[in-house]
Amino acid sequence: MKELSSLNKYFARHKYRFFIGVIFVILSNGFRTYNPRIIGKAIDKVVSFIKNIEPNSSALNTVLESELSKTLLIFFLIYIGIALLEGLFTFLMRQTIIVVSRHIEFDIKNDLYTHYQNLDTSFYKKNNTGDLMNRITEDVSRVRMYVGPAVMYSVNLFFTIAFAIWAMANISIELTLWVLIPLPILSFVIYFINDRVEKASTVIQEQLSDLTTQAQENYSGIRVVQSYAREEAMLQHFEKESNSYKAKNLWLAKIDALYFPIMNLLIGISLIVTIYAGGLRVGNGSITAGNIAEFLIYMNMLMWPVSSLGWVASLIQRASASMKRINDFLKVKPNITNHTNTENKMVGKVSFENVNFTYPETGITALKQVSFTIPAGERWAIIGKTGSGKSTIAELLMRMYDVTSGSIKIDDIDVRNWNTASLRSQIGYVPQDVFLFSETVKENIAFGIKNTDLETVVKYARHASIHEEIERFPQKYETMVGERGVTLSGGQKQRISIARALIKQPNLLILDDSLSAVDVATEQAIQQSLSNSIAGKTTLIITHRIFSFINFDKIIVLNDGTIAEFGTHEELLNKGGLYSSLYTLQKQHHTETA
Ligand SMILES: Nc1ncnc2c1ncn2[C@@H]1O[C@H](COP(=O)(O)OP(=O)(O)O)[C@@H](O)[C@H]1O
Ligand SMILES: [Mg+2]
Repeated sequence: MKELSSLNKYFARHKYRFFIGVIFVILSNGFRTYNPRIIGKAIDKVVSFIKNIEPNSSALNTVLESELSKTLLIFFLIYIGIALLEGLFTFLMRQTIIVVSRHIEFDIKNDLYTHYQNLDTSFYKKNNTGDLMNRITEDVSRVRMYVGPAVMYSVNLFFTIAFAIWAMANISIELTLWVLIPLPILSFVIYFINDRVEKASTVIQEQLSDLTTQAQENYSGIRVVQSYAREEAMLQHFEKESNSYKAKNLWLAKIDALYFPIMNLLIGISLIVTIYAGGLRVGNGSITAGNIAEFLIYMNMLMWPVSSLGWVASLIQRASASMKRINDFLKVKPNITNHTNTENKMVGKVSFENVNFTYPETGITALKQVSFTIPAGERWAIIGKTGSGKSTIAELLMRMYDVTSGSIKIDDIDVRNWNTASLRSQIGYVPQDVFLFSETVKENIAFGIKNTDLETVVKYARHASIHEEIERFPQKYETMVGERGVTLSGGQKQRISIARALIKQPNLLILDDSLSAVDVATEQAIQQSLSNSIAGKTTLIITHRIFSFINFDKIIVLNDGTIAEFGTHEELLNKGGLYSSLYTLQKQHHTETA
């Protein structure tokens, strides 16, 4: 319950609407508890009519009869009127309280989403996407079930019980006590069964999701399954899972089947007690027959809320568990924080000063004492084997992580003192694992900028040597990317990502292994077109292959997190170290494949 108190601020935001909702609850219950009185009175009228009938005087009986039907008609009209009012207020109650819960759900989702966007890379490395998605969908919807239905039913329950008991006690306190005795037992039994059903359903839900995952994997890996002739084994495995799913479902059906008989039995017992105890009192004249009818209706009114107590309790329990997960998540503080709102125009000088970096999640030291300075407008390459720390340099520049020690400066300002959004938006960064959205090619390229025309998009697609290929897509630039659209090759994705970085016209461009999936001929074409579009901009090209068509001002050879060699292409070749052996290797490979 403590966890749920964090919802107070949301309730406070919608307190007026909520308050009106509670008034509707009271009104609807007030009208509802009034109607049994009418029935009771009507019955008493009929009883007294029967008592007053004179066996011999039919003339008098006719007068009495017409009087009775007039009275009953009036009762009937009042009853209908009250029932309509009750219905109206029940409708309004749902409209207000459920609407409040939808508003609060919306607010929580927005808060979560905003928080997600503020968290940094290391958070996303630690948590899996499915879990993160669950919090914003499943958990929020459970909390909403509390805010809406659970709160509404609780308030409603409270007033129904209070009004009904008050009305009953007005007739006979003693009989009221008799009637109330079975109720706690009833609600306990229902809670108990509900709890079982709840647990069984959870287990079944999990089993079903296992089953689905397995089936899905089988279908997508069908070529592997078939080529290894494992159909039979896979089938057996699936059958086993499927059988266990069936067994659990049958068990649930059994518990479920008990629910209504037990409820009806208990309600039946209560009714018998009421009629018996009530009958005795009618006999001695302390209450009327109409009062018994009223009692029976009040009891029916009480049964439903009492039997829903268990359900409401389990809603609250679930909501509380979900709220805890949400709160835990909201408490996570981003490691990367923004200290300033000053926006600097980036010129493009980059310097690393004794940078050391250890990944916080794994403790792997990726960079050791790395220092270099790229003057604005120069074109540099970082070359090195897989795992040598190349991508880490790019991520640190983007401030996805903060350095462990040392400092990184852009235009002589430490990246930690840049406004984070301003820093990132002025760097054209193509990450190693490119990502395209399920949108059109045009929207993917124009992702980082506002209001672009097709002309501009085409211009930068040309710079990235992807224009001709896009022209061949079914809807050209309007072609959808991803599952519902074209399947792009790795090299096409990389070049679309390059276009996306170029269109920002950044003064600092970082390409992280962005041509790795491109064939040699395309690579040469793009190196040439890139050469033109990056003129005058600071460019850092990260690669594991030597690019011969771009003239680099300097080349850093990275090995195991440290700078192993440094210089121009010629200098490095003459040195006869790592770089020159890599060059020889690559040359050999080219002549072999050519
Ligand atoms: N997110 C990460 N969490 C932990 N360790 C990482 C992460 N990314 C990279 N590493 C480790 O840091 C080292 C350098 O990786 P990286 O910079 O990606 O090298 P490169 O780009 O040269 O292949 C490697 O040992 C790698 O395993
Ligand atoms: Mg890398």
